[in-house]
Amino acid sequence: MDSKQIREKYIKFFVNKGHKEIAPAKLVPENDPSTLFTSSGMQSLVPYLLGQVHPVGKRLVNSQPCFRAEDIEEVGDNRHTTFFEMLGNWSLGDYFKKEQLPWIWEFFTKELKLPEERLYVSVFKGGNGVSKDGESFEIWKNLGVPEDHIFFYGVDKNWWSRSGSPDKMPVGEIGGPDSEVFYEFTKVEHDTKYGEKCHPNCNCGRFLEIGNSVFIQYLKQEDGTLKKLSQKNVDFGGGLERLTAAVNNTFDIFQSDLYVAIIRIIETITGKGYQENKNEMQVIADHIRAATFLIADGIIPANKLQGYVLRRLLRRSAVKMRHLNKDTKLTSLSELIEPALTVYGKEDDGMIQKVVNEEMERFFKTLDYGLKEVSKIEKIDGRKAFDLYQTFGFPYEVTEELFRQKGQEIDREQFKTEFEKHRELSRTASAGMFKGGLADQSEIVTKYHTTTHLLHQALRDVLGPEVFQKGSNITSERLRFDFSFERKMTDEEIKKVEDLVNEKIKQDLKVDRKILSPGEAKKMNAIGLFDEKYGTKASVYGIGPGSSLDPKTKDQRIRGGYYSLELCGGPHVEHSGLIGKIKITKEEAISAGIRRIRAQIVA
Ligand code: ALA
Repeated sequence: MDSKQIREKYIKFFVNKGHKEIAPAKLVPENDPSTLFTSSGMQSLVPYLLGQVHPVGKRLVNSQPCFRAEDIEEVGDNRHTTFFEMLGNWSLGDYFKKEQLPWIWEFFTKELKLPEERLYVSVFKGGNGVSKDGESFEIWKNLGVPEDHIFFYGVDKNWWSRSGSPDKMPVGEIGGPDSEVFYEFTKVEHDTKYGEKCHPNCNCGRFLEIGNSVFIQYLKQEDGTLKKLSQKNVDFGGGLERLTAAVNNTFDIFQSDLYVAIIRIIETITGKGYQENKNEMQVIADHIRAATFLIADGIIPANKLQGYVLRRLLRRSAVKMRHLNKDTKLTSLSELIEPALTVYGKEDDGMIQKVVNEEMERFFKTLDYGLKEVSKIEKIDGRKAFDLYQTFGFPYEVTEELFRQKGQEIDREQFKTEFEKHRELSRTASAGMFKGGLADQSEIVTKYHTTTHLLHQALRDVLGPEVFQKGSNITSERLRFDFSFERKMTDEEIKKVEDLVNEKIKQDLKVDRKILSPGEAKKMNAIGLFDEKYGTKASVYGIGPGSSLDPKTKDQRIRGGYYSLELCGGPHVEHSGLIGKIKITKEEAISAGIRRIRAQIVA
């Protein structure tokens, strides 16, 4: 069974159990300054897990592409990746444990035909004032799971939130105990040093976690305690890459159909075999897949935020390619884009390749400096190795090898200490960002949000209907808006757009929220990517006057008589006069055919 069949079976199975399929979110969350990447399927559903009514219902299912930057260093074994697809199903205060666990068991054993004796489960043993999950234990037992296949773990393993265990959850974060399913490989290549002590959560590779049912029921409060949410939710996630490996009992996810074509090309380009060079090829295959989808979502290499993560992925892959074969052209990396996309039936229109090649050209220069630096260092130590890693993107292993050739060893512990120090710093930085993000759902961000809609429409009015939003980012200081347009805007055009937005603000237009089907939205020329295939209804904001959202006349069909009509989850101000006045502070190119505008609220 290949990944496509598994994905289809999963969606169908849950649709048959009353779930509605929802469109996946973008890899870089839109209008969510609290986080850099979409790292799990629940992320875009937080408001609904907290109790807001979801427009399509209480049972949802999808397959969500995810990216986890924090796992970059983990890649290079049989199962870790930064980019993956998460099969997810949710109950928003609807069904709970006694439906979820039997369903997922049925899916794994009947639909995917995973042998029952190879499956193990874990259950929450209690902690942080939340009691042991005896209910899940009983459900698993009744399903026929033998007791020696059921393991109890505490908050470190069997509690899920985006930040980890309850102590690590910031105020306002949600989470709960979970129950995981593991697959035990038969053709085991695992490290046997754990011997008798091996268990599903140990790191030897014998077991692979293939699914996690999180029972999201708690909210972290100011005083550090957990408060019960008004509803009990289920948040299930299972990695498609891992499930594919389990179903085919292939142990190594990089041998699954999602990666084989990429690996084959790496072998051809470098002239080396996968078996002898697994670690490096796994890293390259994972990173190029991640980079491809990040670029497709509008990210370009940069020194900050998402762009910086993308840069690291590309540079790390390039050094690994060079390490495998020093004559490899760094531009060869872009040859891996096509196989990464083909398996999804997608194609590059040239844009992804361009971004990768341009970054590689830049890196060629840095790489040569880096190699020069290496030749200047007389005595390497862990600290200098970390500097090379940080500044030139030289992975530890590459530096290690370069110096081994000179007869020098590096103190790996010292490198690790520097590395941990740095990781602590970035963690603190992202935790700070998360907090800032939550606090930022304030009035000013809401104003910027509505401004973005006005700006989008004004750009279309002034420049033409070929203008489409390509990305947006809001902080309490400014808005950034990326859109498709071929050339630089003239000063006159910029002024026109700014004036038009300010005019619409001055007119104090009312802002309405409606739930429309893709058909209705299309009829009225609403802007946004509607889920036409499944006809899912979605929330649409109209910035007034607005005559009707049930169009009968031609005028009403032009955006229902609204100035702006756009698909969006909100939040927005109630009427445009609340915004004040805006100023466009910058207009620039960010890549071929994509412009970026920055604007500020100035009054
Ligand atoms: N949100 C849960 C996870 O990421 C399912 O594991």
